[in-house]
Amino acid sequence: MRRRSRELKAGGRSIAFVPTMGFLHEGHLSLMREGRRRCDVLVASIFVNPAQFGPSEDFATYPRNMERDIALSREEGVDILFTPDRGEMYPPGFQTYVQLEQLPHHLCGLSRPVFFRGVATVVSKLFHIVEPDVAVFGEKDYQQLMVIRRMVADLDLGIDVVGGPTVREQGGLAMSSRNAYLTARQRPAALSLNRALQQAAGMVAGGEREAARVVAAARDLIESFADTAIDYIAVVDPETLEDVPVIDRPVRMALAVKVGATRLIDNLALVP
Ligand code: PAJ
Repeated sequence: MRRRSRELKAGGRSIAFVPTMGFLHEGHLSLMREGRRRCDVLVASIFVNPAQFGPSEDFATYPRNMERDIALSREEGVDILFTPDRGEMYPPGFQTYVQLEQLPHHLCGLSRPVFFRGVATVVSKLFHIVEPDVAVFGEKDYQQLMVIRRMVADLDLGIDVVGGPTVREQGGLAMSSRNAYLTARQRPAALSLNRALQQAAGMVAGGEREAARVVAAARDLIESFADTAIDYIAVVDPETLEDVPVIDRPVRMALAVKVGATRLIDNLALVP
């Protein structure tokens, strides 16, 4: 992969990169299109990264369909699909990790303690292998996007990190490979995440400034559905991800909810 990248760059071609864990959906494909627009060559990767799953999480059952992913990537004009295996990425003796000091101590990092260390480590490895000019990440995983931006700045990686808007199903559910776990009966509960965010945006547009009231209303809406367990609902600074009690500037609302056994996340800008 690195040899191909260096040949392409020596020939004056720019490289866009979209890392994924596969089971591709329209959200992933939209990032590929964004990469295509920005560079001469489009590289995507598929690697279900064991380092970002906790011991009780879904690494073993994470949905996989390599044949379908290859066909979809080809349709989107992916020039190189990089699909390393676990042993190549984490050979025996592997012991070096990338860890951020502050951003992981908020939102998803609190209930997934190894997650951002796993993400930052694998993404920096992929960046070193692919050597892209541009890398595209989804705003759906807002905290992840902030972590990657911070890491690229802190470690002088010199990659332009581009955020792509969240692609949603009809009804507003943010697309996710994990949506495949949801049963038909769980769908209405899953839709409550985006409904709660929309309700919050409406409250703030209508003059509400108390984050606690916005969060309480979201909590009420989501808990009115059976089979939901809220991990967190937070109104945070869009850069530091620290809680913001009074919404006197644009902020980010983020939430994580378990619907049955499936953990879903979503987020939205709230603009007073
Ligand atoms: P994965 O969940 O496969 O997502 C790959 C990329 O697609 C991420 O940048 C994610 O934010 C983006 N994405 C997912 N759902 C989206 C949606 N509905 N709309 C727009 N973009 C969406 O995120 C990961 O994999 C991994 O953590 C990874 C970065 C590959 C590191 O292992």
